[in-house]
Amino acid sequence: MLLEKIESLLKEVSTLTAANAEEIEQLRLKYLSKKGEINALMADFRNVAADQKKTVGMKINELKQSAIERINQLKEEAQNAESHSDDIDLTRSAYPIGLGTRHPISIVTNEIIDIFSRMGFTLYQGPEIDDDKHVFTMLNFAADHPARDMQDTFFIERSDPNDVTKNVLLRSHTSGDEAHYMETHEPPIRILCPGRVYRNEAISARAHCFFHQVEGLYVDKNVSFTDLKQVLLTFAREMFGPDTKIRLRPSYFPFTEPSAEMDISCNICGGEGCGFCKHTGWVEILGCGMVDPHDLAACGIDPDVYTGYAFGMGVERITNLKYRVNDLRLFSENDTRFLREFESAY
Ligand code: DAH
Repeated sequence: MLLEKIESLLKEVSTLTAANAEEIEQLRLKYLSKKGEINALMADFRNVAADQKKTVGMKINELKQSAIERINQLKEEAQNAESHSDDIDLTRSAYPIGLGTRHPISIVTNEIIDIFSRMGFTLYQGPEIDDDKHVFTMLNFAADHPARDMQDTFFIERSDPNDVTKNVLLRSHTSGDEAHYMETHEPPIRILCPGRVYRNEAISARAHCFFHQVEGLYVDKNVSFTDLKQVLLTFAREMFGPDTKIRLRPSYFPFTEPSAEMDISCNICGGEGCGFCKHTGWVEILGCGMVDPHDLAACGIDPDVYTGYAFGMGVERITNLKYRVNDLRLFSENDTRFLREFESAY
């Protein structure tokens, strides 16, 4: 008796239909709710003979499963029908669409590119995942030289534990682009290489595990330090205003000789001294120097014929100075309240 009832319900359930969401809900209530048909079977189940209980129990479960499946299927069909509906109002206004803004790092990178392209530099971009050879070795970093420690980065592959020059890594500076370009091009070379770089740094307001740099390289006959200085002065004045002063301090980079770090007069206090410039009146913005003859030779360029200069700057540092951002993390948090501040900046 009970089995027959279950069988007939099974048939009924497999052919259920509904015209809309409301009817589907009615079916759910009818079969699957507490007071529904399937629960009602439980009352009769109590009177089933012990040796029949297993068979009947399994049938009831099967019925419940098919009811759930069929009702879900009806729901899905209803949803699909809705989304294919041609009841779409094409005349409805699309607004308001929240218009995004250009990211401050992109704004400043573009400004740097613009200034240098007016001085004849063209763009080149190398790989972010690079090898030790281009990032360090060809740039005159000896395998065991402590200068490598200044730029700890993320290693993707150490193919030979005894030979660091075989490592594959996330580039720690854009200077590797110099090696990529010089090994495949003849002078005169005048390129600007913007891009993202990586360092193994704990994240704080002042340091991050990735940031952006712009590298510049000029190789030709008779390129001198004077050319470098004039180009950098022009850049600083274009970027920070005509009253900006620069100063070059001797420094060390394996790939340039001589090397220098360039400061600009603090554009926040005008050189008077403030918290940002640590009361010195100067802020460091880039590293530079004359390309080491070893680099030229390693890239197949004759150092007896050609000379060159190079420089590399951090875009975040320049953006901080220009827009007085005091926490590096803001650049990668995607907080639209911060990003919207730059709406009128370009
Ligand atoms: N690559 C250096 C760094 O990340 C910056 C730099 C210094 C680039 C001197 C240069 C250069 O091209 O000549 O710290």
